[in-house]
Amino acid sequence: MPKNNFFAFIFLLITACAAPSDKKDTFIPDNLSRRDKTRYQQYLIKGKSLYRQHCSNCHQPDGRGLASLYPPLAKSDYLMQDIPRATCISKNGQEGSIVVNNKEYNMKMPGVPTLTNLEVAEIMTYIANSWGNEYGFISVSDVKKNLENCAQ
Ligand code: HEC
Repeated sequence: MPKNNFFAFIFLLITACAAPSDKKDTFIPDNLSRRDKTRYQQYLIKGKSLYRQHCSNCHQPDGRGLASLYPPLAKSDYLMQDIPRATCISKNGQEGSIVVNNKEYNMKMPGVPTLTNLEVAEIMTYIANSWGNEYGFISVSDVKKNLENCAQ
């Protein structure tokens, strides 16, 4: 059955090409200590579920945002250029015109003031290392320091 073999081959080709890009979806830095590596993996899992709970309604599960209403987090220059600023936004919200990947957004994002520093660290680690973003581990003490310096 040469025809079936041909389709099986195409199918294999497609799945072989799709698998590595799925893996690349989450960045795993190679400079972490063993202890941080375990924590990092836990943060990604916990961060994803917190993201689904508090953020993905607007920014979407794939981080791509929604039309001109909600900016993307996936490959967002605004996010990746200033992680302390993004940490403040994640907890406190954001208002006023901002430019993300050359596109202007101007809508109010409500904050989630009930998030603990640990939860913010989990969410930040998840969003800064998913969908093509590659930042690395964001610890609770990073978050604590960043939140102390929020402008407002
Ligand atoms: C109700 C919709 C909504 C929710 C829920 C929401 N955001 Fe936003 N977010 C926005 C909007 C709108 C902006 C742009 C604000 C502006 O125009 O000034 C924004 C901007 C941002 C930015 C900076 C811009 C960028 O794209 O890099 C980050 C980072 C961010 N949000 C993260 C989060 C995180 C993390 C959560 C969950 C804890 C969250 N947001 C929940 C609507 C939302």
